[in-house]
Amino acid sequence: LKRIKIKELLLSKDFGSEVNVKGWVRTKRGNKQINFVALNDGSTINNLQIVVDVPNFNEDLLKKITTGAAISVNGKLIESTGSGQNVELEATEIEVLGVADPEKYPLQPKKHSLEFLREKAHLRFRTNTFSAVFRIRHAMAFAVHEFFNKKGFYYMHTPLITGSDAEGAGEMFRVSTLDPKNPPLNEDGSINYKEDFFGKETNLTVSGQLEGELGAMALGEIYTFGPTFRAENSNTTRHLAEFWMIEPEMAFYDLKDNMDLAEEFLKYLIKYALDNCMSDLEFLSKRLQEEEKGKKADEKSMELIEKLRFVLENDFVRLTYTEAIDILRNSKPNKKKKFQYLIEGWGADLQSEHERYLVEKKFEKPVILTDYPKDIKAFYMKQNDDGKTVGAMDILFPGIGEIVGGSQREEDLDKLLTRMKEMDVPAEEMDWYIDTRRFGSATHSGFGLGFERMMLFVTGMGNIRDVIPFPRTPKNAEF
Ligand code: 4AD
Ligand code: MG
Repeated sequence: LKRIKIKELLLSKDFGSEVNVKGWVRTKRGNKQINFVALNDGSTINNLQIVVDVPNFNEDLLKKITTGAAISVNGKLIESTGSGQNVELEATEIEVLGVADPEKYPLQPKKHSLEFLREKAHLRFRTNTFSAVFRIRHAMAFAVHEFFNKKGFYYMHTPLITGSDAEGAGEMFRVSTLDPKNPPLNEDGSINYKEDFFGKETNLTVSGQLEGELGAMALGEIYTFGPTFRAENSNTTRHLAEFWMIEPEMAFYDLKDNMDLAEEFLKYLIKYALDNCMSDLEFLSKRLQEEEKGKKADEKSMELIEKLRFVLENDFVRLTYTEAIDILRNSKPNKKKKFQYLIEGWGADLQSEHERYLVEKKFEKPVILTDYPKDIKAFYMKQNDDGKTVGAMDILFPGIGEIVGGSQREEDLDKLLTRMKEMDVPAEEMDWYIDTRRFGSATHSGFGLGFERMMLFVTGMGNIRDVIPFPRTPKNAEF
C-alpha cells in the first residue's frame, strides 16, 4: 500500500480507498469495542483519527499503542462525522514500529510548560507547539531565499571562521587548536598565535557583512544567510550565542533604498507565513491566548494573526534618533522614572524600555530609527555631514525591540581610515576590506535581520530559546 502523508490525506475525498500512514501516537481513547487513535506524522498540525475496531485486533498489540509510539496503519479512508476533520481512517492492519513505555516517556498527553519542554529539548519537536514553530521556521527560511531570488540577489556564503571582528564589539568566540594548558609562548610571555592552526588569531564570525560588501561591490546585490556567533553574556529572551542572520548588501543603494528594501522584505516574510502557514498560525494564536493570557480561545481570538496583518497593511514609522530622543524626553515620565537617564543627554544608546515606549505606546507600529550618534555605532557606517551622526537604521518591532540593524556604508577611503583609527580597528589586518574603497568605491548599503527575532514575531513565542531547535545560551550547549 502506498504511504500517504497526513496533510495530503486530510484533504482527500477519495473515500473507500485503502492507504498506509505512518506516524507517532498523540492520544488513544475509547472503550472495549472501539478505540480512537490521534496520529501525527509531522506534515501538519492536524492529527488523523484512526478508528480501531477492538475485537478485530490482538490485545497485546493494542496495549503498545500509547502516546509517543510509532505505528504504521493500513486502513480505509472514511468520511468523518465528529473528529473535527473531514476524514478518518478505519484501521485494517496495525504494526507497532517503536514502543514508548508510558512509565518512562516524558511527554504525556497533557499540556507541558515551555520551561519543562526546554529541559526536554530533544523531544519537544513532538509537541504541537514546537512542530508548528519549526514548520514555520522552514517556511520563513524558504521565503527569504524566494524573496531575494525574485529580486536578482545572489546568495553568498561567507566564512564562519574569520580573523576580523566585523562589529568591533569584542564579543567573539576564539577558534584555536592550541593546547590551552600549555600554549606556545612569545618571549614576552604572550601566546604565540603564529603556531596556531591558521597562523594567527581567529574567531567565529559575528557577521558576514564585511565579506558581503566585497561581493556586493562586484555582483551588485547579494545576501548572506547563515549562523553567526556572539559571546555576549546576555541571558535574555532576545539573545542567543548562536543565531542565524540574513544580511543583504547592495551596491548603489543609499539609506532610503536600504530602508525601503528592509520594509518590503519583512512584509514579504509575514505575508508568506499568512499565505502558507495558516493552520500552524491559528494553533499558535490560540496557544498565545490560552496559555499566555489565560483567556478562553474562540473564533475571535486570532490576535497573533491580526497583529501580523496589521504590520503588513501599515507603513513603518520613520524618524531620526534625535527626534526619538525628543519624543522620549517629552513623554510623561512614568512613576519609576524609566526615561530619566536620557536627561543625561543626547548620545546614549536606547534601552529596551525606550524602544518599547516608541513602538508599543507612542506609535503602536514598527519604527525605523535612523541617524544614530556615531560613537554608539560600528566603524563602517557612513558619516553624516553634521559630524556627529551616521547613516544607520535600526528597525524596532512591537514586543521584540530591535529586529534589524543596518546602515549606508562609508565609501570614502580617507574618512573610513580615520574612523578605523579613532575606533582602534586594526586597518593593517583589513587591507582586503579597505581595497573596496581604493578601487571603484561607490555608495552601498545593507542590513542584518536576526532570523530568530523574526521568528519570535511571527510565531508569538516569548522566548528566543523556543524558536531555534538547539539554543546556545550562556552555560547551555546541550547536544
Ligand atoms: O545590529 P547587528 O549587530 O548588525 C550587524 O551585525 C550588521 N553587520 C548587520 C548588517 O548591516 N549587515 O545585528 C543585526 C541583527 C539585530 O538587529 C538582531 O535582530 C540580531 O541581528 N541579533 C541577534 N539575535 C539574536 N541573538 C543575538 N545575540 C543577536 N545579536 C544581534
Ligand atoms: Mg544592532
